[in-house]
Amino acid sequence: MIIAVDGPAASGKGTIARALARHFGLPHMDTGLLYRAVALQLFRWGGDPGNEFEALRACHELGVDPADPELRTETVSKFASAVSAYPSVRTALLERQQEFAGQPGGAVLDGRDIGTVIAPQADAKLFVTASPEVRAARRHQELVGRGMAAHLADVLNDIRARDARDASRETAPLRQADDAILLDTSGLDVNAAIAEAIRLVEERL
Ligand code: C5P
Repeated sequence: MIIAVDGPAASGKGTIARALARHFGLPHMDTGLLYRAVALQLFRWGGDPGNEFEALRACHELGVDPADPELRTETVSKFASAVSAYPSVRTALLERQQEFAGQPGGAVLDGRDIGTVIAPQADAKLFVTASPEVRAARRHQELVGRGMAAHLADVLNDIRARDARDASRETAPLRQADDAILLDTSGLDVNAAIAEAIRLVEERL
């Protein structure tokens, strides 16, 4: 069983994907971490996210610990959004994701293009979203909770810019697959969003 969870930044898709994986006893991959790892590698080299060749080299020479807290910084988010627009970078990371999705027993993957590109054959697809204001408030709280200085207005601007970039790029843009179920988490707390996601997936199976 493959479950695809896509959606914009801070929509709750990661939390929902992890909860679905636990509920159905499946392994989970946060595919955003792959793009973040490429971004962090590039950042540490002092590389230029505007240079596709440097970004591709970072894909092939990935040496970032997946648990590195720097993966979650706003600088890395911006770099990740930039490098993820390169078709060569997406191709370089494709096989890893498809192998994960194809393992016996299935998997849950979350990202931007799981239901459209990585696993169009997925048994259940969720497109998780929330208003930009709600997502900015969540991301802001998360950053402050981690002791990082952040202004709500800046976070909202970053989210809007990232949404626009992710949705307008030519290769694998962020969009809801035709057969994906829309889950708007704007008015839901974490537990309600998870319960609704489980209900929607079970209904689909
Ligand atoms: O999901 P997360 O915010 O960690 O993803 C970081 C960035 O990686 C996103 O802004 C997006 O540009 C990119 N990404 C992508 N395709 C995916 C997952 C993430 O382009 N499947």
